[in-house]
Amino acid sequence: MTRHLITSALPYINGIKHLGNLIGSQLPADLFARYQRGRGNEVLFLCATDEHGTPAELAAAKAGKPVAEYCAELHEVQARIAEGFRLSFDHFGRSSSPQNHTLTQHFAGRLADAGLIEEVEEKQVYSIADKRYLPDRYIEGTCPNCGYDKARGDQCENCTKQLDPTDLIDPRSAISGSTDLEVRETKHLFLRQSKLRDTLDQWIDSKTGWPVLTTSIAKKWLHDGDGLQDRGITRDLDWGIAVKRGEADWPGMEGKVFYVWFDAPIEYIACAGEWAEAHNTDWERWWRTDKGADDVTYTQFMGKDNVPFHTLSFPATVLGSDEPWKMVDHLKSFNYLNYDGGQFSTSQGRGIFMDQALEILPADYWRWWLLANCPETSDSEFTWEQFQQGVNKDLADVLGNFVSRVTKFCRSKFSEEVPAAGSYGPAEQALIADLQARLKRYEDLMDAREVRKSAAELRAIWVAGNEYLQSVAPWTVFKTDPDAAAAQIRLALNLIAFYATLSAPFIPDAAASMRAAMHLDGPAAWPSDVAEALSDLKPGHVFSVPEVLFAKITDEAREGWETRFSGGRAG
Ligand code: 2FM
Ligand code: ZN
Repeated sequence: MTRHLITSALPYINGIKHLGNLIGSQLPADLFARYQRGRGNEVLFLCATDEHGTPAELAAAKAGKPVAEYCAELHEVQARIAEGFRLSFDHFGRSSSPQNHTLTQHFAGRLADAGLIEEVEEKQVYSIADKRYLPDRYIEGTCPNCGYDKARGDQCENCTKQLDPTDLIDPRSAISGSTDLEVRETKHLFLRQSKLRDTLDQWIDSKTGWPVLTTSIAKKWLHDGDGLQDRGITRDLDWGIAVKRGEADWPGMEGKVFYVWFDAPIEYIACAGEWAEAHNTDWERWWRTDKGADDVTYTQFMGKDNVPFHTLSFPATVLGSDEPWKMVDHLKSFNYLNYDGGQFSTSQGRGIFMDQALEILPADYWRWWLLANCPETSDSEFTWEQFQQGVNKDLADVLGNFVSRVTKFCRSKFSEEVPAAGSYGPAEQALIADLQARLKRYEDLMDAREVRKSAAELRAIWVAGNEYLQSVAPWTVFKTDPDAAAAQIRLALNLIAFYATLSAPFIPDAAASMRAAMHLDGPAAWPSDVAEALSDLKPGHVFSVPEVLFAKITDEAREGWETRFSGGRAG
């Protein structure tokens, strides 16, 4: 048994996420977590809301609520929606947790002790119209690196370069649009990550099997231009983690908080502490290599815009602490999912948001399509037509139809029990051999976190069953040789159980319905020998014909949704 620590990028607290956010981290992370659990491995799957920073403050102000209250409410909202999508977090924490306060201050203290923090008199942008310092994200302007004219002060969305607000050309306030900005002097802490460049470089080089997307972004910011820049890790804000050096006050830093991107990834660790406290268990065996975590495989899932923070800034924090923390082993990053010819956008309400998606269709429909079409090697596109086609073909025609046909045929010609007569012959042996090879491929792809290819292999496994059924045609055979038809249907009923187990990471609800229809209780055992697995349901085993697993999406429904979602989300 292996142990898998799995984290998904932490969604910002400021509102409900769209499907592009979901497929960029939480959903593939859940796929991997469910798969590893299915294989019988020990998994700790963590996620949390990312609650600090200006976005939270502004969203709370807009909602007319104190920021702490706003965050508590939105955390609950996001947690419920995550459940709706069947995201199987072992803990869904909060970056504002006491554990994260303590740990963030601890890391800052360690980094300071190691000489990796510098106090810098900094020039910061103050908006006279908005009467506040403008944190990085709230200054917009032209990217000095690529010329994109809507670059934010923390990062250019277009070329992923991490920026400082004062780098922007023609800056303006993203809150009011005002260009009446002035630069004021204020003291801040800087993480001297440039001192760790060689360490980071070697660490990244030691990683094999990371997606090219991950290493290319990391290497780009390590070596291009001025190389790795030191980063400001404090801000003039009210809401956040007070700047302290361990437990001690930090003279001159009163009233300041840590930058959200400093404390958010530390929540990956703190979240394990929250989980352990809730379950009265130990978290250090997952996170401290001196306390048993050296046999843990740690995989992070995230969108490409998060990669620099996870390959450079957070590792700089962890390595710089000179403590034996578990470091990430696999960093799986994703491109962007676009919506009907443009970008999903939270600020413009463009696209489909997670709550809306669940209002119109069950989670499995979305999970399947999003995972099978995820933006893995390049950006991908959601269109209603492709969504309709994918769901109707893969889920309704291939899988759903198989289950319905087999169970109904058996009920009408035999009974609602696995028939006993006949035995498996060459056609069945050929199918078993084919599935044995496909099972291995599916496992290899899932182990390699190859999401689209895994989906394609699973689909091929479903198709193989359909083709078998089509070619042996038990409904015809039954007329002349009912015993042979019985053996064929016995195999097909076993295939339903086999499919349920293999499909559960993608479509957990349908998989549960399939197992319930086969009257199987308890957790499924992952198959190893396909011949054995397909003889698992013995003659006489009772089953039921399930409700329709997947209803087809009609043209009318699709057109209705297309119209409904074309106008953007209000407010
Ligand atoms: O991009 C985002 O949505 C960030 N909230 C991700 C943070 S991931 C981690 F570092 F906390
Ligand atoms: Zn740029």
